[in-house]
Amino acid sequence: MLLSKANMAATKINNLTVIGAGLMGSGISQVSANANINVTIVDSNQKALEKSQKGIESSLKRVAKKKFANDEAAQSNLVKSVLDRIRVSTNVGDSVENADLVIEAIVENIEIKQKLFAEVEDATKKSTIIATNTSSLRLQDIGKNLKDKTRFGGLHFFNPVPMMKLLEVVKHPETSDATFKTLMAYGKAVGKTTVACKDTPGFIVNRLLVPYSFEAFGLFERGDASMEDIDIAMKLGTGYPMGPFELADYVGLDTMKFIMDGWKQQYPNDPSFKESKLLNKLVKEGKFGRKSGEGFFKY
Ligand code: CAA
Ligand code: NAD
Repeated sequence: MLLSKANMAATKINNLTVIGAGLMGSGISQVSANANINVTIVDSNQKALEKSQKGIESSLKRVAKKKFANDEAAQSNLVKSVLDRIRVSTNVGDSVENADLVIEAIVENIEIKQKLFAEVEDATKKSTIIATNTSSLRLQDIGKNLKDKTRFGGLHFFNPVPMMKLLEVVKHPETSDATFKTLMAYGKAVGKTTVACKDTPGFIVNRLLVPYSFEAFGLFERGDASMEDIDIAMKLGTGYPMGPFELADYVGLDTMKFIMDGWKQQYPNDPSFKESKLLNKLVKEGKFGRKSGEGFFKY
């Protein structure tokens, strides 16, 4: 008997592989392991894996301290039980063979992502769902070479993942209803509020946030206001938790540049996609924001 769309059950995710152990991959791994999912984090760089494990531990300690304020034993139990569900690896093939879900969170570069997805598709079971955490690239481009696109979709998390409550779930034109339902259910299982997005540049949040940020960089570059005053103005004038310069340093200036460069190249006539000479200069100097110790501000 054929199941109707409404009756189609979401598949429960028990085993997750996250590829990319940077800011986002670490956070995604943490919230998933915290939701009783077994997680393998893969990175081509062993040092990134070590840094990720340390970062997850310190973030978990903050979460545990808040949850069990006066109970140190409960705090360490939580930290230990979550860390015990996370293993790390530098080998993609071995790490994805038993996964129910693979989430890619590597550098925002189309060729590198396409290459990785080809490798992942060949090494996974036919039932494994594969997802990208891309900030800005079209799923149709990232997944161009996939043989089966019905099991492919987008899971766009926000930084810092343990604190940000939103998850954008993105549908590629060929994503099946069953895959989409499973991605939505996974998002809820890891404690996020999900919104459905189409495969359009920046989905919902970044389509609004990134042009706004570049507008702020322009305001400063024209000499119309200081970075500090722009940040204060947006925090106190609109209630945003961070101003645009503070937030760009938090996201990573390299990531901001990858996003804008990609859009400018793909949509050269869209006036909301513009360049910032200052951002280009900072990235060229290796000033990527908080993660490198300096960006618009020093840390
Ligand atoms: N792990 C665990 N807990 C954390 C944490 C982390 N990484 N970061 C912050 N916290 C907790 C702290 O423990 C603290 O809890 P208590 O108040 O109970 O002690 C609480 O969060 C507040 O932290 P802080 O006092 O250090 O700082 P804050 O009040 O400024 O909050 C923030 C930090 C949550 C990051 C807040 O500033 C914020 O929401 N900033 C905006 C972030 C944002 O807009 N993110 C989206 C970026 S865009 C994106 O991600 C998409 C993309 O594709 C680029
Ligand atoms: P990051 O630079 O912190 O980490 C990327 C990690 O990927 C690095 O550890 C790197 O060693 C690893 N890597 C690169 N190529 C690899 C490969 N071929 N195989 C295995 N590992 C590889 O980056 P990030 O900020 O975590 O961003 C990751 C993805 O998430 C990007 O697509 C980005 O656009 C997206 N994203 C970022 C944010 C943010 O605020 N930074 C928010 C949402 C989504």
